Amino acid sequence: MLETVRGWIAQAQRIAVLTGAGVSAESGVPTFRDTQTGYWAQFNPQEMASERGFRAAPQRVWDWYEHRRAMLVGVQPNAGHQALAVFARRHPGRLALITQNVDGLHQRAGSEGVLCLHGDLAANRWLDRPRVCCDLARAQPGSPPRCAACGNLVRPGVVWFGEDLPPQVLDAAQQAAQACELMLVVGTAGAVYPAAGLAHQARQAGARVVVVNPAPSELDGVAHAVLRGTAAQLLPALLSDPA
Ligand code: OAD
Repeated sequence: MLETVRGWIAQAQRIAVLTGAGVSAESGVPTFRDTQTGYWAQFNPQEMASERGFRAAPQRVWDWYEHRRAMLVGVQPNAGHQALAVFARRHPGRLALITQNVDGLHQRAGSEGVLCLHGDLAANRWLDRPRVCCDLARAQPGSPPRCAACGNLVRPGVVWFGEDLPPQVLDAAQQAAQACELMLVVGTAGAVYPAAGLAHQARQAGARVVVVNPAPSELDGVAHAVLRGTAAQLLPALLSDPA
């Protein structure tokens, strides 16, 4: 099956790749839904990843994001991130990279133009609509930082449950999904929409869909091929140039 999928990749002029937390697992970043090791085995997503949860316990939620940010400093992109970046460099214009990840590892591996559906863990923004007094560069340090004048709180620049995805990013991702001949779905449980819907859209528009995941995912049924293995093993094997 690996050789078959390599053939599909070789034929496709437009390839879209949808990645999830599993692509960073081998870098040491926890996923969300893996039993035992995933964040959601330990934390309630409604408490840690919603505006309501943040308003209820801003310090607890902020500290968790700070912990995740600090952890990323010691983490490196893995062979899966690198294979995607190398392929895009060798084949300009053929690969659209869409990610649900907020860890920045695709970008650190050298991928450009990454469509980040769920924002950026490294970014901050205001919780409430900023007033003239609100200036992120001068936010009063704290956990979370706040506007010294009006008390507006700083929150992480990620998309929380119940929030809209950045519309331009979602538009671009949907266009890529509908225009591609092949979509690789790598390291995602396929449980969160609209991200997972991109695989359905690609299939409906006539693309071949390939899932790369060591475990069953909710998108296996959409796929023409399911490759059981990890991102750092399979992406280099799939995307390297023919010998
Ligand atoms: P999940 O944690 O839901 O799923 C991770 C997937 O990666 C699972 O299907 C695993 O089997 C798979 N996996 C684990 N190790 C892997 C490896 N080495 N190589 C390849 N796959 C591996 O993560 P996502 O699907 O990304 O939302 O979750 C989607 C969204 O839900 C996240 O973006 C996050 C979360 O709540 C926000 O933060 C807004």
